[in-house]
Amino acid sequence: FIHDFAITPNYCIFFQNPVSYNPFPFLLGYRGAGECVAYQPEQPTRIIVIPRKQNTEEVKILETQSGFIFHHANAFEEDGKIYVDSICYESLPAIETGTDFREIDMNTNAPGQLWRFTLNLTEKTVASQFLEERCCEFPIINPNSVGHPYRYLFIGAADRPTGNAPLQGILKIDMETKTQQFWSAAPKGFVNEPMFVPRPNAEREDDGWVLTLVYDASHHRSDLVILDGCDLTSGPVARLHLKHHIPYGLHGSWSGELLGVGLNQVEG
Ligand SMILES: [Fe+2]
Repeated sequence: FIHDFAITPNYCIFFQNPVSYNPFPFLLGYRGAGECVAYQPEQPTRIIVIPRKQNTEEVKILETQSGFIFHHANAFEEDGKIYVDSICYESLPAIETGTDFREIDMNTNAPGQLWRFTLNLTEKTVASQFLEERCCEFPIINPNSVGHPYRYLFIGAADRPTGNAPLQGILKIDMETKTQQFWSAAPKGFVNEPMFVPRPNAEREDDGWVLTLVYDASHHRSDLVILDGCDLTSGPVARLHLKHHIPYGLHGSWSGELLGVGLNQVEG
């Protein structure tokens, strides 16, 4: 199972999670496609490294311990190695069909946690390093740093520092100093994937805004919350209150341009 991939100037990197797939319940209409995936913990995770430039190197496949990854934060090349930062789960998070979401015990599923993988293509070895215990998911960085060495990571994170829990805050990790900033919308706010919008002509990598949709359970509405990328702890610089709630999505992206329908048409 592959959900995401990372790039560097010279490589595309895919992590293939060890699963089996039985499509028949899906084809017969008994289960959703995602419910037919079964985690195979006895199998390794395969890391497929594909050169981006043709006729230079062959595709290499490395192996590391079993685990489950949906999203990568970033990858970069340094000192002849490839570094990949990813959100890892001990196993595929699974919820039985028909379970009432209010009855779910979050502790029965492993939390997503930040790891760094170091790939040595010459020796075909993989080293892994545990970076952050707090349950987190949906990593984002300054788009100008994608594929390159970077310093700041922004990610949706649980309010409490340990265990599995819903994402209720935004965590900023300084990969250089190992320091953190955390803004929380708890107890009634639940965050979506953050987005990083660089300030035009910024010199600092974290100079920009972090945008996230926050579901406010106390009002059953959503807010678009805008945080200062340099200082999450000072709280939102703006909070745009919507008149309704927005169901959870997965991914989005920022565009400085209005695409599609023109503004005058929207207002009309
Ligand atoms: Fe995704």
